[in-house]
Amino acid sequence: MLDLLVRNATLPDGRTGMSIAVQGGRIAEVTAGLDAPAAQALDAGGMLVAPHFVDPHFHMDATLSYGLPRVNQSGTLLEGIALWGELKPLLTAEALIERALAYCDWAVAKGLLAIRSHVDTSDPSLLPVQALLEVKRRVAPYLDLQLVAFPQDGVLRSPGGVQNLKRALDMGVDVVGGIPHFERTMADGAASVKLLCELAAERGLPVDMHCDESDDPHSRHIETLAFEAQRLGLHGRVTGSHCTSMHSMDNYYVSKLLPLIAEAQVSVIANPLINITLQGRHDTYPKRRGMTRVPELMAAGVNVAFGHDCVMDPWYGMGSGDMLEVAHMGLHVAQMTSQAGIRQCFDAVTTNAARILGLKGYGLEAGCDASFVMLHARDPVEAIRLRATRLKVFRKGQLVAQAAPAQSTLHLAGRPGDTAFMPGRA
Ligand code: FE2
Repeated sequence: MLDLLVRNATLPDGRTGMSIAVQGGRIAEVTAGLDAPAAQALDAGGMLVAPHFVDPHFHMDATLSYGLPRVNQSGTLLEGIALWGELKPLLTAEALIERALAYCDWAVAKGLLAIRSHVDTSDPSLLPVQALLEVKRRVAPYLDLQLVAFPQDGVLRSPGGVQNLKRALDMGVDVVGGIPHFERTMADGAASVKLLCELAAERGLPVDMHCDESDDPHSRHIETLAFEAQRLGLHGRVTGSHCTSMHSMDNYYVSKLLPLIAEAQVSVIANPLINITLQGRHDTYPKRRGMTRVPELMAAGVNVAFGHDCVMDPWYGMGSGDMLEVAHMGLHVAQMTSQAGIRQCFDAVTTNAARILGLKGYGLEAGCDASFVMLHARDPVEAIRLRATRLKVFRKGQLVAQAAPAQSTLHLAGRPGDTAFMPGRA
């Protein structure tokens, strides 16, 4: 007898009437119309069942701190970094852990079961690192949390930056981070990329750098990152996050850059909500969108994912852990409005992001973990359009969250008002 059988599901690739059989926390079979005895049976009613959402770029040490100690008045990246500097001396491990755990609850409710979070390693106390390692341990039964050692103040620019980052890796942080565009000079930025990639190669770790989060078309650290990935044989293990300067680069230069990124198998993460908010701040009009060249990167064969980056922190006062909101913004900013483009944006918060994290057992195939989401939508396009309710969220075969469909009842003159319906559903 199966542990769980989900029947009549629509899958992200368009297959309908599918059954997903679960045994021992894993998917035993995905077949059209299968009916077999199961301890728990669920009729999806034609709704979309997708592998869980994955956020490949987040800052869990800063999340839910909005307004502490004050609100970012200008809304700029640099005031956000300054504000984070003001908040850091006030941080306690307890409060940081409490906020991170609260965010993980939000995430699970939204079917977001894997997050890669950067953690600031600039302060020699490494308090955020200790706190997030504790959070990682506590959420492990229901959420995969991967940590990136992130030298927010610049690994070369800040005193002890390299040592602090190495200590964070010694403590068990999973990925080598960086922020080359924040170093004092272009040369220092390039030197930091080389140093950090060599460190990752030595230790057998992946790399994920904040890279060129700037509107400056001459910020070209992604080139160095791809070159170092090639040189050190780190193919498939390196990610450039943000890469917003690419928006403003010369087209000829980009035509040379994209094949280099693709050959080095460097993945790119855009953070649409944050890029559209923080970039173009020095512009009058026209005001640049600033997000990296998502469809062009995808067309060049680069793995591109979308991250949430921030939720209610010094940089961004919005957000709720909903990766469909991220995909929704992504498709608008990138103008990926074709049906294929919208589906690519769904992939950017599911399969493409999972590839960056190197998640084992991810997917909706026999042998994969039974970690999936039943959405109140008939396909990925409708899921993004409606930011659809997560009706059921399963983690390795166990139900970890559920929600009732969002419905409204109208009370309009001359109209029967007692029928509940779902606004927005055509
Ligand atoms: Fe970030």
